[in-house]
Amino acid sequence: MESLLILGRQPALGLAELESLYGAPATRAIGTQAAIVSVDPCILAFDRLGGSLKFCKVLTTLDTTDWAEIEKFLVRVSPGQSQTMQPGKMQLGLSLYGFNETVKRITATGLSLKKAVRKTGRSVRFVPNQTAELNSAQVIHNHLAGPNGWELVFVRDGPRTIIAQTIKVQDIESYARRDRERPNRDAKVGMLPPKLAQIIINLAVGRLPEAALQSICEIPAGEPIPTPILDQKILDPFCGTGVILQEAMLMGYGAYGSDIEQRMVDYSLANVRWLSNHYPVSDSESLFEKADATHYKWPQQFDFVASEVYLGRPFTSPPAPEIIERTKSECQLIITKFLRNIATQIKPGTRLCLAVPAWQTKQNHFQHLPLIDQMDDLGYTRISFEHAGDNQLMYYRPNQIVARELIVITRK
Ligand SMILES: C[S@@+](CC[C@H](N)C(=O)[O-])C[C@H]1O[C@@H](n2cnc3c(N)ncnc32)[C@H](O)[C@@H]1O
Repeated sequence: MESLLILGRQPALGLAELESLYGAPATRAIGTQAAIVSVDPCILAFDRLGGSLKFCKVLTTLDTTDWAEIEKFLVRVSPGQSQTMQPGKMQLGLSLYGFNETVKRITATGLSLKKAVRKTGRSVRFVPNQTAELNSAQVIHNHLAGPNGWELVFVRDGPRTIIAQTIKVQDIESYARRDRERPNRDAKVGMLPPKLAQIIINLAVGRLPEAALQSICEIPAGEPIPTPILDQKILDPFCGTGVILQEAMLMGYGAYGSDIEQRMVDYSLANVRWLSNHYPVSDSESLFEKADATHYKWPQQFDFVASEVYLGRPFTSPPAPEIIERTKSECQLIITKFLRNIATQIKPGTRLCLAVPAWQTKQNHFQHLPLIDQMDDLGYTRISFEHAGDNQLMYYRPNQIVARELIVITRK
């Protein structure tokens, strides 16, 4: 069984995340914005994927990319397809990935489909496109993934077109709530987006234990999906305000955090308490303490390490080269000391994903930490991905100076 996923703003991160969870052979990139994974859609755990925007069921593949032919096919099959849906007004939307059709052309196709379906006696509303693809907010607000919704997704796959139907989109309201409504945030330590925290965790944990995942197809429509109990613990030794551990708890992991600043430990505690009052997680699954990650001996064992480590000073304008050099040395020292310290406390094979700083000194030109190339000497093996290059695992906005570079390593 296969599922199609539409990837986020930085598709390489989404591909690496899928490869990490489901394996390279089960993951296939389709064009530049989508992927197919050979995983039972019922256990795909879409809600934990920070790097995928839409989760779609593949309907068919056509041996053409010619839009006129695709439209002809749709006009022919849509009336029959619409009969399989429950009665009521149908919401219809179209999203194209990898095509060069104009919004005007897409609208014309939508109106032709609407006309064809209306001939069967059913009323239809076509959700107009502002761009070739509808975004998550449009899909949610127009109920396109609901029982009467029909968002058709077209993905160009070389000389073929995959046609799929959206089943779910990212819950943007929940992400925004988790990000903005928690009681303690701190612009100085950085605002790690929950989606990126999910990607960091997914890269840290590797393959998912399928047996522990509940099939969502057995949960009646409209009922909340329970948090799985994975019985594994994640450590974030630079936890700050606790975003990574918050997301880890929502995925079903035990959360263990430490930070050199007591204020941050208090922030994390309050944020996790807030989470447990608003989401189905228990804060008894978490533990936070003040500790310097460069020499602390953690009293507990943990299964994975997922962390956005010390990133140095935040910069809003390009700093002088000597300031970058100084910041780089400071980060290099703290992070290498931490890696040496923790290597003595984790079992061989333990997997870590760290977001470390890289500095965008010119558009798309980065200065990296030397430790990226010193993993072997530090006692770690770097994990590379088949579907995403090492140098693509960077999270940044076009004008952002401090980027987060994701490194995935295992203790030798
Ligand atoms: C980039 S922030 C992490 C932010 C975090 N991801 C969040 O959700 O807010 C880095 C954190 O590392 C902490 N830190 C810096 N040096 C440290 C050290 N030697 N040991 C432990 N924590 C340290 C800082 O206090 C800061 O909270």
